[in-house]
Amino acid sequence: MRALVFDTTLGGWDETRGFELQDVPAPTLDEREDPSDADKVLMKVHYAGICGTDRGIWNRAAFKDHILASIKSEGGTRRILGHEFFGEVVALGSGASRAAPFPLEVGDFAAPESHVVCNKCFQCLRGEKHVCTNEKILGISHDGGFAEFVKLPAHIVWKTDTSKTRPELGAMQEPFGNAVHAATKVPLKGKTIAIFGLGPIGLFLTLVARGLGASTIIGVEPNPVSQEMAKRLGIDYVIALPSRGKNVPPHHRDEGVIREIEELTGGLGVDVSFEMAGFNSSFNNAIFATRRGGDMIAFGIKTGDFVLEDFNRFVVRGLTVHAVIGRRLPETWEMTQKLFADPSNKIQENIWNIILSQGKDTILPLARYTKERFEEMMAKHPKLLIEI
Ligand SMILES: NC(=O)c1ccc[n+]([C@@H]2O[C@H](COP(=O)([O-])OP(=O)(O)OC[C@H]3O[C@@H](n4cnc5c(N)ncnc54)[C@H](O)[C@@H]3O)[C@@H](O)[C@H]2O)c1
Ligand SMILES: [Zn+2]
Ligand SMILES: [Zn+2]
Repeated sequence: MRALVFDTTLGGWDETRGFELQDVPAPTLDEREDPSDADKVLMKVHYAGICGTDRGIWNRAAFKDHILASIKSEGGTRRILGHEFFGEVVALGSGASRAAPFPLEVGDFAAPESHVVCNKCFQCLRGEKHVCTNEKILGISHDGGFAEFVKLPAHIVWKTDTSKTRPELGAMQEPFGNAVHAATKVPLKGKTIAIFGLGPIGLFLTLVARGLGASTIIGVEPNPVSQEMAKRLGIDYVIALPSRGKNVPPHHRDEGVIREIEELTGGLGVDVSFEMAGFNSSFNNAIFATRRGGDMIAFGIKTGDFVLEDFNRFVVRGLTVHAVIGRRLPETWEMTQKLFADPSNKIQENIWNIILSQGKDTILPLARYTKERFEEMMAKHPKLLIEI
């Protein structure tokens, strides 16, 4: 079958970039050979999404250790990439339907939760599966969905009603769920919020936060394409991130941005700030734009150390910082599916028309994949889909 992979035999992690299109063996279900296949599902993938994580892998800037160590522990040479996808169930192990969040049949459509949690560790047993100690992540430490077929544990497979969800958007439930999780960490009703980073998840967050009653939403973003999308999605204010002076240390906050947010909030700062970009300066922006006693949600990811500016002021202002990872299981998936199923909130319509530009130049058939074409598409559009 066709698949996009990282292949260790084609050069080291740091010497290569991009994804390789290869013909690889398709997974099969065979309980006699492997009894654990009883709880597994074979899916034919229809659409798979590209996100910030995949861009990080493309540029070899993220998940190096996870990918290399997991390939080695499996005794293999390649990882099939892709963690956001949607497809059709084509085969089920004898116990798979019972193990899934909703009963499954061959012919059902579904999307997976990308964190393959263990269901056995301290957190999993307490209902905090999103912080499972032993998790594997699809497309990183477990083969993923940039492929014609994928074999998955049934407990992560969420049946999706195609009469309510557009197939292209079926593949968007996982990253949309990230935004739902971030937006439900603290109550947003009547709150003034700022979103630092209007990438796809920051844009999804704009929609969810509005739905949850945030009164004023301010976005901060350098990319004009994403700024424009946020305006069309109904954000109240967009602050274009100015270019930084040469002598400004990379972790320093952007004073002008903080001033603008203070002006927009009567000198107070926002009730809740969301760091959705994964840059040190942006993290400090989020801290400094938050009012005394407010909440800051840390969501963006970068490997390495961050410097927290003016620590004294951070403590004295009494902020609460929350790190948000993945999706709560099952609550976030349930809320995501409810939001997608309700046409009155126009969430699917907005994602399709605005974030996916109605599929114009945002969907690439896998058979036509080339590194050059894909890189060109990634440079132009914040969100892309591969059609398989
Ligand atoms: N916590 C989690 O569970 C989780 C899950 C998925 C992704 N992530 C991370 O969340 C972030 C957002 O994901 P995405 O898929 O939307 O990613 P993305 O990388 O496509 O979006 C990031 C956006 O931030 C903008 N940006 C860059 N520098 C900025 C700055 N200094 N200030 C404000 N905006 C800036 C970029 O132009 C881009 O629009 C990434 O860091 C990603 O790695 C976290
Ligand atoms: Zn993702
Ligand atoms: Zn666990």
